[in-house]
Amino acid sequence: MHDGGKRKIAQRALGALSERFHYNISGKATGWSSIQYFQQTISIKRKYKSMLPVCFDDVQNALPAVHQVLKPTALYEWPGLSKLAGCQVYLKHENHHPVGAFKVRGGVHFIGSLNAEERKEGILGCSTGNHGQSLAFACKQFGVDCTIVVPEGNNPDKNEAIRNLGAKLIEQGKDFDAAKEYLETELLPLGGIYVHSANEPKLIAGVGSMAIEIFEELSDPDAIIVPIGLGSGVCGTGIVARHLRPETKIIGVQANGADAVYQSWKQGLPKTIEAANTWAEGIATRSSAEMTLQIMREVMDEAILVSDHELRIACYHILKQTHNLVEGAGAASVAAILQQRKKFAGKKVVCILSGGNLDLKELPAILAVGK
Ligand SMILES: Cc1ncc(COP(=O)(O)O)c(C=O)c1O
Repeated sequence: MHDGGKRKIAQRALGALSERFHYNISGKATGWSSIQYFQQTISIKRKYKSMLPVCFDDVQNALPAVHQVLKPTALYEWPGLSKLAGCQVYLKHENHHPVGAFKVRGGVHFIGSLNAEERKEGILGCSTGNHGQSLAFACKQFGVDCTIVVPEGNNPDKNEAIRNLGAKLIEQGKDFDAAKEYLETELLPLGGIYVHSANEPKLIAGVGSMAIEIFEELSDPDAIIVPIGLGSGVCGTGIVARHLRPETKIIGVQANGADAVYQSWKQGLPKTIEAANTWAEGIATRSSAEMTLQIMREVMDEAILVSDHELRIACYHILKQTHNLVEGAGAASVAAILQQRKKFAGKKVVCILSGGNLDLKELPAILAVGK
C-alpha cells in the first residue's frame, strides 16, 4: 500500500486509541477527591478492562445517531421456525432496513459523524455489496461523494443498488480481498477517506446498535447468533451483550468454505485461506481483520460453521415460515440453529437476519431444497 494510505489508516487507529487513553487519565488530571477517583477508576476498569477499541458507551452513543436516519428493526418470534428448530426462535429483521442489511447502521453512524472538511474528501469503500450500499446510502443522506470497489462478478442486484444510490461503482479483482488490495494500492493514494468494513470503531459501534434494540425488547435471550464476514456485527453485538447481560452467549457463524475468521479466532492468529468458497457473498472473506479479531477474542463465546447447502435450507425455511426473502449470509444464523438442534433445545435464541439482498439467480436452488 502507498505510504499516504498507510499513514491515514494508522492515524485513524491511533485516534481511536488516544481517545481511550485520554478518557482513562482524565479523572486524575481534574484533581478529584480520592473517593471520586477510586469510583471513576473502578468504573473505567469495568468498561475498559481490556482496552478494546470500542466499548458499550460508544454503541450507546451511536444509537441516537443511527435512529435519526433509520427506524429500529422488528424482533419477532416465529412459531413455525421455533417448532422446526426445537427452541424459541426470534428473528431480528435487519433485512427490513432501507438497503436491506444491518451494515447500514455503521455507514450512517460513520458518515454522520464526519466534519465538513472530511465530508469534502469523499468516501472510498470495498465491499461485496452491503457495506457498499450502506456507505452509498449514508453518503447520499449527508451529501458526500462515494466510490465503491466490488469484486468482478459481484451480485448484479447489489451493484445496481449501489449505483442507484448515486455512488461510483468499480468492479476489480477476483474476490473481496483482491478488490480491497486494488482500492488500497490504486485509489487510496489519490485521496478520499477509506472506510474499512471492519477495522473502524464507528462502524462497529453503529452496527452494535441492533443489539441494544434486542435487549430493549427481550431482556433474557440465552444466545444471539450473528453471521461473520469480517466480524463487525458479531463484535458490536458482543460488546453490548457483555455489558448488559454477560450470560447471553454470543455465537458467530461462518460458511465452512470461507472459514478464515473462524480459524483466526480459534487460534488467536490472523489466517488467510486460498479461496472463499461459498455462494453467500456477504460472508465470503479470505482473511480476518485486526480490530474485529481482537474484539471477537473477548466477546464471542463460540463459532459454528455451516455448509452452502445448509444456508439454502435455512433460506428456504425462512421464506416458507416467515415470507422473508433473505440472502445466504442473512440466513447463516438460522442455518446454525437448524444444524445444532441439541445445543439450542428449549433455549431462547435471537438470530440476526443480517440481510435480504439475495442474488435472484440463487432462488431456484433455494426453492429446490424444499421439494
Ligand atoms: C448480509 C450480511 N451478513 C453478514 C455480513 C458480515 O458482516 P461482518 O463483516 O460485519 O461480519 C455481511 C457483510 O457485509 C452482510 O452483508
